Amino acid sequence: MTLPSNLQNDLTNCRLPVDEASSLPAACYHSDFVSKQETELIFHRHWLGLGRADRFKESGQFETMEIAGVPLILMLDNNKTLHAFNNACRHRGARLLEGSGNTSGVRCPFHSWYYSTDGQLVSAPQMENTKRFCKKETGLFEFSLKIHAGFIFVCFSPNPPDFSKHIGDFDRIHAPWPIDTLVSTRRTSFEVNCNWKLFIEVFNEYYHLQSVHPQSLNDSYYIPNTADVTVGNYASQFGETQGSSGLLPEKQNHALPLIPGLAKKEKSGARYSWVYPNMTFALSPDAMWIYEAYPIAPNRCRAYQTICFPSSSLALDDFDMRANFYYERFDAAVEEDRIALENQQRGMDSPFTTPGRFSTVMEPSVSAFASWYASQLQSA
Ligand code: FES
Ligand SMILES: [Fe+2]
Repeated sequence: MTLPSNLQNDLTNCRLPVDEASSLPAACYHSDFVSKQETELIFHRHWLGLGRADRFKESGQFETMEIAGVPLILMLDNNKTLHAFNNACRHRGARLLEGSGNTSGVRCPFHSWYYSTDGQLVSAPQMENTKRFCKKETGLFEFSLKIHAGFIFVCFSPNPPDFSKHIGDFDRIHAPWPIDTLVSTRRTSFEVNCNWKLFIEVFNEYYHLQSVHPQSLNDSYYIPNTADVTVGNYASQFGETQGSSGLLPEKQNHALPLIPGLAKKEKSGARYSWVYPNMTFALSPDAMWIYEAYPIAPNRCRAYQTICFPSSSLALDDFDMRANFYYERFDAAVEEDRIALENQQRGMDSPFTTPGRFSTVMEPSVSAFASWYASQLQSA
């Protein structure tokens, strides 16, 4: 479908260098038309970051998700291999699983077809006389899945883009942190009345800290370094921090030990990275926190938050008590951001809201994503 010419012009302006660029047009945050375009051109085409792999531990453990119209099952099979299945029966399409849990196999609630944890169809009653019906060819529909640096990536496209091109030089930029060894200790999920992009944008810009987080976070962060030049579908920016940016000011004396083996630079600050389109994370000297955001409607999203620490911190006797202070800080920040984001969405809902300009120091990752997003929409 062709994009309207005013939208084309606005998107072209997003693709300029940050000091020349404009932000994404408001239609990208409120229009059903753009939402359909991004579903097709982004969510159903690209690799999506679905959080940490270590939340799946036991054979048969599963989690269901709804991602841009796709009902998904993530499931660990009996050999501890993770799969991403379409959550729909191969008989006549019934939804198979709800929520999360553990199962020895998947029985369809409609006519009782039964699948193993690796997606194979094990039994299908009364199908013996059906011509050219082959159980071996009627397993659950499976999507491409990769695990990289402990993150799960899934692609819905039958022809997934080259994953090594997607991830680019991610490993070089993140080499100072042992990301794949960090352990998930909490995963939560919640909805926010804003476009999914707004939720991830605010996490990747330092501009709002003073106004939105004056008591909770602002004192932790200095003016960040220039954004990294990256290869691949991600943006990243490092900045010095004071104390632990994972703790509120009054809880700094509960800071957990640093991630073992960090060099001087990484001990003194935090890296914020955004793996396009929908996953972002911060690496501080003592923790990593991750957000994924998925569209529910143009003005509503579901977010997942995961918190990770090094295993050496988990081994401490008072770990749970100290980790709770980190959770308190992340929850406080989300609630402060929620007020700002829902307010921003109300402005974005106006048909007269026009694109803005960026602070080159404070918002380069928002600009970098806008450029990538615009190029995807214009690729149609
Ligand atoms: S729809 Fe699943 S067994 Fe019929
Ligand atoms: Fe924030």
